[in-house]
Amino acid sequence: MLKPSFFVNKLPIYGDLILAPMAGFSDLPYRSICRALGSAMSYTEFVNVDELSSGKNGSKRARQKLCYRENERPIVFQIYGHDVDRIVNVAERIQELGPDIIDINMGCYVKKIAERGAGAGMLRKPKSVALLIRRLVNILEIPVTAKIRLGWDEDNKNYMEIARILEDNGASLVAVHGRTKSQAYKGKADWDAIAHIKQHLSVPVVGNGDVCTVADINRIKSYTKCDAVMIGRAVIGNPWILQRKDKQDVTLTDRLNLVRKHLKLNLEFYGLDKGLILFRKHVAKYIEDAPENVKHLRIPLLTCEQASDFEELLFSINKETHTLP
Ligand SMILES: Cc1cc2nc3c(=O)[nH]c(=O)nc-3n(C[C@H](O)[C@H](O)[C@H](O)COP(=O)(O)O)c2cc1C
Repeated sequence: MLKPSFFVNKLPIYGDLILAPMAGFSDLPYRSICRALGSAMSYTEFVNVDELSSGKNGSKRARQKLCYRENERPIVFQIYGHDVDRIVNVAERIQELGPDIIDINMGCYVKKIAERGAGAGMLRKPKSVALLIRRLVNILEIPVTAKIRLGWDEDNKNYMEIARILEDNGASLVAVHGRTKSQAYKGKADWDAIAHIKQHLSVPVVGNGDVCTVADINRIKSYTKCDAVMIGRAVIGNPWILQRKDKQDVTLTDRLNLVRKHLKLNLEFYGLDKGLILFRKHVAKYIEDAPENVKHLRIPLLTCEQASDFEELLFSINKETHTLP
């Protein structure tokens, strides 16, 4: 029988690569694809607890972000907010929707979120972090986890304090993006900091930041000893990295087949118009390094308005690449 790679509290996790939560990308269609290819867990994109507070389970848009399929399990609902009471109330309510884990976003750097004290803004309030996690762990029946950055800025890197607070108050896993809030995406992710956290925590630590290739996966694992690797930007256009395959090793036929499957899931989930529009950003990445002779199909693919036209374009890519001299 397959051995779990690690446990989140009592929940066994099989595999050590995880699709990172990404607003606008890690929706049900894409998570399903990534989970099937090898993502060990399925994190929703972050959802604002304020948006989840209205009505029975929040606005339609917020509820849609929490839709999942059974075969995605373990499914992690990631939420964010600045008010401890509200986060706890919402977490208790959305637990009813059946997630396996609730994760608190403590890493978002976007000004209007972080400066209000949510996302990475939480890193500036260690006492609130302690209170929030303690209350969530007491009230919920499922594990509570957090995804953090290294601190607010270079002069306030309090990741070790925060990581210890998380563990001491009952969090079952800590995912770490190795940058500060003020770095956003600048500079290089600091894997030393991830290694440092891993050395001092006994709950699983997930390393994240600047993993782009299979070689990077191996490097971050051996460098930090993290329990799993979370990959974000490099999965877009290359979900096969979750199978430990670099983009250049994926055949065009496999790519086109996956584009079709992904589009179908998008159309089913969002409907014909929205499904196609939301698919464009993925297509742009899938075909980023397409062969020269099909480059002229890029704009038509990114602008076509009917799924059937899209199919035809994919068909012509297939034809053109198979008639290469
Ligand atoms: C478009 C986009 C949206 C993101 N949305 C989220 C989010 O909803 N929740 C979260 O914790 N992190 C979010 N992130 C951060 C990623 O999860 C990840 O920490 C970051 O991209 C670094 O990993 P990478 O170098 O593998 O991309 C987002 C990143 C991107 C690029």
